[in-house]
Amino acid sequence: MDWSTHFPTAAAGKPVEIADIGCGFGGLLVALAPRLPDTLMLGLEIRLQVAEYVRERILALRLQQPGGFANASVLRANAMKFLPNLFGKGQVCLPPPPPNRWEHLGLTRG
Ligand SMILES: C[S@@+](CC[C@H](N)C(=O)[O-])C[C@H]1O[C@@H](n2cnc3c(N)ncnc32)[C@H](O)[C@@H]1O
Repeated sequence: MDWSTHFPTAAAGKPVEIADIGCGFGGLLVALAPRLPDTLMLGLEIRLQVAEYVRERILALRLQQPGGFANASVLRANAMKFLPNLFGKGQVCLPPPPPNRWEHLGLTRG
């Protein structure tokens, strides 16, 4: 996958390592990006207008803070369908599911 349109300058060419599935309005991406500046992270959001909001949010932050937020981007996509097309096995770290989904996913509390 060519991510050069998503991640400008030096960040382009590195693999995406964090995927925020169902990123909503991008709160997690915007909080994480400055803390992990060398890690590329991609939000996936199914709602077109919400994904567009996140795209514009990240672009505005890049303008406000030159050099910042080059490691964050968003893609409008249905993660249920397209995740395997975007990432290789073991490529990305996914945020943990909320506890009310653990049983459904076959997980138990440690
Ligand atoms: C409960 S919200 C959580 C938003 C955000 N992660 C947060 O914690 O504030 C779930 C989000 O997942 C998105 N979503 C639901 N199904 C999806 C899918 N199959 N692919 C991508 N995004 C999806 C929804 O549109 C919604 O924005």
